[in-house]
Amino acid sequence: MGVIAPATRGGAVLHTIPVSESGITRMAVLGAGVMGSEIAWVGAAAGLDVVLLDSQAAALERGAAHVAGIAARRVAKGRMDQATADAVVARVVTATDDAALADCGIAVEAVPEVMAIKREVMARLDAALPPGALIGSNTSGLSITDIAAATGRPDRVLGLHFFNPASVMALVEVVRGEPTSDATAAAGMALSRDLGKVPVAVRECPGFLVNRILVRAMAEAYRSAGETGAGRASVDRAVVDGGPAPMGPFALGDLIGLDTMAHIRRDLEEAYGARFADGGAVDAQVAAGRLGAKSGAGFYDGTPEAGEATPAGAAAADAYYAGALDEARLCVDEGVATAPDVEVAMRNGCGWSAGPPGLTT
Ligand code: 3HC
Repeated sequence: MGVIAPATRGGAVLHTIPVSESGITRMAVLGAGVMGSEIAWVGAAAGLDVVLLDSQAAALERGAAHVAGIAARRVAKGRMDQATADAVVARVVTATDDAALADCGIAVEAVPEVMAIKREVMARLDAALPPGALIGSNTSGLSITDIAAATGRPDRVLGLHFFNPASVMALVEVVRGEPTSDATAAAGMALSRDLGKVPVAVRECPGFLVNRILVRAMAEAYRSAGETGAGRASVDRAVVDGGPAPMGPFALGDLIGLDTMAHIRRDLEEAYGARFADGGAVDAQVAAGRLGAKSGAGFYDGTPEAGEATPAGAAAADAYYAGALDEARLCVDEGVATAPDVEVAMRNGCGWSAGPPGLTT
């Protein structure tokens, strides 16, 4: 639906119709947190009808307000006219009842990164969606094969992994579990393009591609800073000044959400070992109730501070990029993605101006 094709007769444009490569016109998003609301915006902005579903009415209110907030920001910046923004917002309807799933061609879940919750949600979606509908999981790295096994349609389940903030970042990792059919994988690539995104096909492994590289880099920098006492702002400054990343690991942790980061990092440490250890940096914030931007404070009190690069900050930045390069090489060697796709993914998923320095040289 990202493309508008003019219908013409004798050279005269009659009207414009949205072109849907996937054929999907109605999408459900389950989970009205920040990520779910952003995905709902993406669908509606691309012309799909979107059902934003959550069992908590208060979460739905916050989700609808988040969607309206994106619209208001776009209008204020002159990126969208008011009528278009109003139409996009109106295409997102909220619901607490699974009956709203009845006409959807796909449902994408964006609930917490806990396998038991994912599987419970999958079973619910399977029961309420039409038999032919697809189920996408926005998991950031849990096994699609295990998630799909909670449904009676595992061939129609796939990973559709969006990046924060999903209304801005172009990448979708399209991940096949063992039972995912060719047709489902192709539909996932097509839908991502309909949504105006850049899909990259990724082989299933814990953390998939981008989070393996990014969270490894972040963990290395947190660990280094913990050992040297480097200031957070000085690390963030050095990372931005010293390589292709647009923001440093402490500011990025706050953007992603430190509770989400904690789950992802722990799963990766379990899967791959100590190279994903961070010296307890993220868990300490979560234990203090500091979850990042969503809770108003995290590594930073509010918005990230500007900092000066220091030798200790520079050492943490070196650890960050060395970790990214090492993990990227492992991903390429294991066939998770090709080196050119790593670069496409880092550019479109995390706003890097290039791939991990050294990967293609
Ligand atoms: N939420 C929603 N939108 C946001 C935002 C936020 N927190 N922060 C910025 N934006 C929007 C702005 O409104 C603006 O939108 P517009 O183009 O419609 O006007 C656009 O982003 C650009 O913002 P700014 O010009 O103010 O700021 P920057 O140019 O500094 O860009 C950024 C901000 C896009 C966040 C950029 O710094 C960036 O790309 N950072 C890297 C983000 C990243 O790495 N994301 C991936 C995280 S990993 C992940 O999500 C995986 C998951 O599984 C955890």
